[in-house]
Amino acid sequence: MVDEVRVAVIGASGYTGGELLRILATHSKVEVAYATSRPHAGKKVWEVQPHLRGLLDVVLEDVDVEKIAERAECAFLATPHTVSMTIAPDLIERGLRVIDLSADFRLKSVKVYERCYKVKHSCPRLLEEAVYGLPELHRREIAGARLVANPGCYPTGAILAIAPLLSYGLIEPNTIYVDAKSGTSGAGATPTSFTHHPECGSNVRPYNVFAHRHVPEIEQELSALCGKEVSVAFSPHLVPIVRGILTSVYANAEPGVSEQDIYRAYLDLYEVEPFVRILEPGELPNLSAVVGSNFCDIGFVYDREKRVVAAFSAIDNLTKGASGQAVQNMNIMYGLGETEGLLFPGLWP
Ligand SMILES: NC(=O)c1ccc[n+]([C@@H]2O[C@H](COP(=O)([O-])OP(=O)(O)OC[C@H]3O[C@@H](n4cnc5c(N)ncnc54)[C@H](OP(=O)(O)O)[C@@H]3O)[C@@H](O)[C@H]2O)c1
Repeated sequence: MVDEVRVAVIGASGYTGGELLRILATHSKVEVAYATSRPHAGKKVWEVQPHLRGLLDVVLEDVDVEKIAERAECAFLATPHTVSMTIAPDLIERGLRVIDLSADFRLKSVKVYERCYKVKHSCPRLLEEAVYGLPELHRREIAGARLVANPGCYPTGAILAIAPLLSYGLIEPNTIYVDAKSGTSGAGATPTSFTHHPECGSNVRPYNVFAHRHVPEIEQELSALCGKEVSVAFSPHLVPIVRGILTSVYANAEPGVSEQDIYRAYLDLYEVEPFVRILEPGELPNLSAVVGSNFCDIGFVYDREKRVVAAFSAIDNLTKGASGQAVQNMNIMYGLGETEGLLFPGLWP
């Protein structure tokens, strides 16, 4: 256990960078020793992230690996994929521990990564070492990791909802249909026509159906969990909210499964988890109860006659789906209390 962790946030001007700093600014065991933005270098961080005014005075700087290594022991990479894989190796070489929020180190297979992201991986040697940072499944490995690949936002919601059903053998693994609805902050701070308010503010639309980049990540983790190939049909939607992902999962139950079997599986896997809240059978989660928090709320409905399970998870994509989970991972890596700096409720209503 350490008294204080000196951290660097690379990508402090972005949405996940801003969310990291929102959490780290009041974390009693953290000093933010370095924060980067290339175009905003020289400004106080709150000039770019207005919610931090009066809470954090750090000055934004360019990315300088030597300086980061002098001042920090842990680096969060809140940077786009392809950028993280150019920075992470240099930091690790200089003795830092790295938590990467991008997709660069999440997939174990370089082939799958290159097919999915349509770029060459510049550092495949770190793929094997990287630990997938979902504490509910990999807490022990995270504790000893030099490089944590923080999960994607959709995979966090989907894997947490599906894992108990699969690991207790309650559903047929090849009948999993996932429909997820995300707010616009999931696309990051750079405006695009897809997230432009007039085009999405009163709109709901599916996109990348069955072809989203998060599918291999979901399948990798679920397959590892149940020891056989799992395939998932995944259909994401953009909805006119800023934060939050509501994930709906449908699957065929194995013969003989009861509602209590399903409820017990969720409780067994998550009873001790500080950030997963299991609702009573038939009770359904609300996004507003988790937005702004690191919680994942899960509920389910079971039709025994039709043998269909519907499971629902709600997370904040920027918190449990990104930066809150990254801080949870840091707490585990440094032997701090896992909930340190993270036990704040959602913004209901
Ligand atoms: N948004 C979400 O809900 C979410 C959820 C889970 C995971 N993620 C992942 O987290 C990462 C960050 O996402 P975001 O939504 O925060 O993106 P964002 O708002 O677009 O921010 C990206 C950040 O990366 C920095 N950056 C870009 N290119 C860089 C480079 N070549 N060198 C150094 N810094 C660079 C930018 O800083 P400058 O000021 O220097 O340009 C900016 O601060 C992405 O990989 C994303 O896939 C996002």
